[in-house]
Amino acid sequence: MKLKYAALIAGVALGLSGIANAADFVIKFSHVVAQDTPKGKAAEYFKKLAEERTKGRVQVQVYPNSQLYKDKEELEALQLGAVQMLAPSLAKFGPLGAKEFEVFDLPYIFDNYDELHKVTQGPIGQQLLSKLESKGIKGLAFWDNGFKIFSANKPLKSPADFKGLKMRIQSSKVLEEEMRALGAMPQVMAFSETYQALQTGVVDGTENPPSNMLTQKMHEVQKYATVTNHGYLGYAVIVNKKFWDGLPADIRTTLDGAMKDATVYANKIAQQENENDLAKIKASGKTQVYYPTAAERAAFKKALVPVHTKMDDRIGEGLVQLIYKQTGYTPN
Ligand code: LMR
Repeated sequence: MKLKYAALIAGVALGLSGIANAADFVIKFSHVVAQDTPKGKAAEYFKKLAEERTKGRVQVQVYPNSQLYKDKEELEALQLGAVQMLAPSLAKFGPLGAKEFEVFDLPYIFDNYDELHKVTQGPIGQQLLSKLESKGIKGLAFWDNGFKIFSANKPLKSPADFKGLKMRIQSSKVLEEEMRALGAMPQVMAFSETYQALQTGVVDGTENPPSNMLTQKMHEVQKYATVTNHGYLGYAVIVNKKFWDGLPADIRTTLDGAMKDATVYANKIAQQENENDLAKIKASGKTQVYYPTAAERAAFKKALVPVHTKMDDRIGEGLVQLIYKQTGYTPN
């Protein structure tokens, strides 16, 4: 009898504290990379700001490392409302019907972060985000990762070295074309499956910024990497539009502010994080890191820049030209 009573009290207390602690709104934020990456850190920073500034009315639950969903499933989950927030790579919006986002995958279209920010942090970026609304998605921000390096178990110093290699890519037609332009065989594969595919030889190589390569331990199963910086990998932070529009206006304004500050943070740390992680890859001694000479870089560019014209139709030539104009791009 006594025991029963104690259990009842404990249950009520638990229930009450549950009610007292319960947030009014929960945002499940799912992503596929490790916590110790530019995206992982920015997601945690957004959580901190959002929870502090709403005084706990909003709780943000971050699920890193494909814990909840892999690439394709997470987009479906967002549309169904099973999660509220994601930050997929810009290379993964094609299957949603937003092919324009693949413009960011064009090889050598951006030489550095400054050029890129003219697009992502300006009117073109805003316009791209607004295209998602018809899919039930609201785009909130662009977060940087970095510029990609190629890796394999053989040295990759020229396009000829790629001939016949099976290269894992993200689900982007532009990246497919990029690998074909090098004579490689592109294999679309979920990020969470890439390490194992490299380890077992299902694929021979891949491309990613150093932060992803290191934190997924890809460098442990890739003997060579070439710092080509041939393409950009970054993210759009997106939310389920119905959920977002249904939030009270004051909460939404606070969250918008938190996202703005988290974006400044994300885009401030990304370059340094990638430099640090590249240094760690080198220091591990597991991957030999090679920097192409000017002539080798020119050969890569010569092979890869024609992908721009090939993919014009898919992306929309207007958009490619608009970006050239915004960044001052010249083909050489
Ligand atoms: C990849 O699949 O290689 C990347 O999109 C992973 C990520 O989110 O950075």
